[in-house]
Amino acid sequence: MIKSEEIRELFLNFFKKRGHTIVNSSSLIPVDDPSVLLTTAGMQQFKKYYTREKDPLKDFGSQRTASIQKCFRTTDIDEVGDERHLTFFEMLGNFSFGPIINDDPLDFGNGGYFKKAAIYWAHEFLTKELGLKIDYTTIFGGEKNVPLDEDSLKIWQEIGINKIEKRGREDNFWGPTGDEGPCGPTTEIYLEGIEVWNLVFNEYYQDKNGNLKKLEFPGVDTGMGFERLMKILQKTETIFETDLFEPLREILDNFSGEIRRKRIIMDHLRGSVFLIADGLFPSNLERGYILRRILRRLLLHLRFLEINFDVLEKMIKAIIEKYKAFYPELNNFEKIKKVIFDELQVFNETLNKGLREFNKIIKGNESEEALGEKVFYLYTSYGLPVEISKELLREQEINFSQKAEEVFKQLFEKHRLISKKEENG
Ligand code: ALA
Repeated sequence: MIKSEEIRELFLNFFKKRGHTIVNSSSLIPVDDPSVLLTTAGMQQFKKYYTREKDPLKDFGSQRTASIQKCFRTTDIDEVGDERHLTFFEMLGNFSFGPIINDDPLDFGNGGYFKKAAIYWAHEFLTKELGLKIDYTTIFGGEKNVPLDEDSLKIWQEIGINKIEKRGREDNFWGPTGDEGPCGPTTEIYLEGIEVWNLVFNEYYQDKNGNLKKLEFPGVDTGMGFERLMKILQKTETIFETDLFEPLREILDNFSGEIRRKRIIMDHLRGSVFLIADGLFPSNLERGYILRRILRRLLLHLRFLEINFDVLEKMIKAIIEKYKAFYPELNNFEKIKKVIFDELQVFNETLNKGLREFNKIIKGNESEEALGEKVFYLYTSYGLPVEISKELLREQEINFSQKAEEVFKQLFEKHRLISKKEENG
């Protein structure tokens, strides 16, 4: 069975041969980009090369780069636990910054390319290098002021892909990350019904008001979900059975309990380790709060599976061992462990008391208002975070309705104002 470590190498070598400079993953904490809290895509560290504020030839000796980027997305955080959602993941990408010098897949030089080279190479890498079969592809079908992507359609047909679906802005127009930046129509590649590779043709710049302007020169930004690719290559049932999670799975196999909890533990612990290795600390603010949230949820599920801190330590070590050769910043076991342990030890007390009270007062037959009030009470009197209460309710199939949420929010806002007044004396 081909291992993830080999695939990383195959990918980078494939594009290196084709004139791309290999660039390390940037930190999960974006440098010099206030538009986003965390790094969510491979193109993020290259934004200024698309806008020509920076010169790729000067910095990379090429208009082409390739990377394997650590990414963290919170959009699907509540879905983590099912078969396919993750917060932290790796993205394989190749990039081209304008102007286009030669859009020819046989040109292995260092000039800018566009749709033809990008699509041919993606096809070649998947089908020839990896021996996989493309199910179908999608292209941008045209919407508002952005026309149908006829070029991509023709290129796919020329290659011999017959199933090409046209989709709208929602599906096949990517970006920008945060509230402004390069963006454009995409073509997506599906294998075994799963979207694996997204090729973005950055032709536009979207400003803060949502207006699109043509970029001076178009560029290419591709992203392939590494966990999904490994699932297909290793023919596993879900991404969690790939070798990327193997060391954690081996430890978790010794514990009985719901698979959903194990997946949350695998995802959240892996994400936390990477975030902390990049210098993040849990806090109540912005990105620090994202880390705090996943650590707290991690603790909840560790408790349910009766996993103690010794085992947790083993899992942290297992993640570091699996990834440190490629991500040397992980070589910091003592610090990573300390940040996790400190946070969990403090929260453990709160969680003990909060859970006890939760079990005592939540009956499952209360009105929507009463549920909002109870969750608020658990928060103010026991420090039980609302996300944890919601998670517990979801597990018991108790609906925390919009109305319950509103009641909670109103009480919360009132409470916040009173606390502020008291603080200000
Ligand atoms: N930037 C594109 C994505 O994240 C490739 O899907």
